[in-house]
Amino acid sequence: MAETGKNTDLAADYLLHGKLVAIPTETVYGLAANALNPAAVLSVFETKQRPHFDPLIIHVPSLQKASEYAVFDDDRLLLLAQKFWPGPLTLLLPKKEMVPDLVTSGLNRVAVRVPDHELTLELLNKINLPLAAPSANPFGYVSPTEPAHVQKQLGDKIAYILDGGNCRVGLESTIVGVEEGKLCVYRLGGLAIEEIETVAGPVVLHINQSSNPKAPGQLKSHYAPRKPLYLGETEELLKLHATKKCAVICFGGINLNANNVLVYNLSPGGDVNEAALNLFRYLRAADDSTAEIVICQKLPEIGLGRAINDRLIRAAVAS
Ligand code: TXA
Ligand code: MG
Repeated sequence: MAETGKNTDLAADYLLHGKLVAIPTETVYGLAANALNPAAVLSVFETKQRPHFDPLIIHVPSLQKASEYAVFDDDRLLLLAQKFWPGPLTLLLPKKEMVPDLVTSGLNRVAVRVPDHELTLELLNKINLPLAAPSANPFGYVSPTEPAHVQKQLGDKIAYILDGGNCRVGLESTIVGVEEGKLCVYRLGGLAIEEIETVAGPVVLHINQSSNPKAPGQLKSHYAPRKPLYLGETEELLKLHATKKCAVICFGGINLNANNVLVYNLSPGGDVNEAALNLFRYLRAADDSTAEIVICQKLPEIGLGRAINDRLIRAAVAS
């Protein structure tokens, strides 16, 4: 069991000694190490069983600090940082020399963000070092949105869990960069595309459904529960799997015509932000339940609905 608490002095001390600490952010919990200490960064990869070709995001407390490690070579990215940091936005920027290659998996851009969580900002200001932090889950599994999720899966492998309560957004950050002059979104996430376009103009989606060296978090099978997950029309899928005990993850004012089904409604009132907040928690609950399979429906493709659908498609069994 990892020690848990709100003590940022203790967390800073562990990090300075090369240990790993789970940190709260508004999106999901991160598994943090001192980004400038390659041995500590290496243990992040080992603890998560994450392939070394999948680079890490560095977390800093301000735009000013971000520019110590990365170059803002495009006005649109600077504008986005000014508008949305701290917040669920990660920028891909040319890296400066001192960022270890291990953090970026040898790529020449580094992913940077300022997380919007009081405790983690306090920690980052105290430690005065960037923290490399992927989501605090075993590679390929659902991201953690509560301290208990981290404790359950990584508790015996890390020094400390900085307890910042439940995450406020519930989906990983949106990843944005510039390629050939175009503003590109590499991962849909907690900041809606509509908001990005309002500030910085049109974006191009570079979101692959298969293996993609630019953002391996976009591997086709990712964010996946252990139980088979089927995505489609709920009533139809329930009929198709009538002999199985089913968990249903649904959305809005839906009236299910089925007995012996575990129902998790992401947002009975049909609010996509509320659905984002509940998505990973319910995927984990369904996975830990007595159900044999999980059935999900797609959400409307507006706001965070797009990012939720992206996660559900990746979590679903290949069809
Ligand atoms: O909300 C978040 O972004 C959370 C919290 C903890 O900050 N972090 C997170 O990290 O989701 P992770 O490692 O689970 O996902 C980071 C994604 C991966 O898909 C990775 O491939 C991509 O960012 N990435 C990181 N550095 C990159 C780089 N230099 N170039 C391209 N993609 C990069
Ligand atoms: Mg992750």
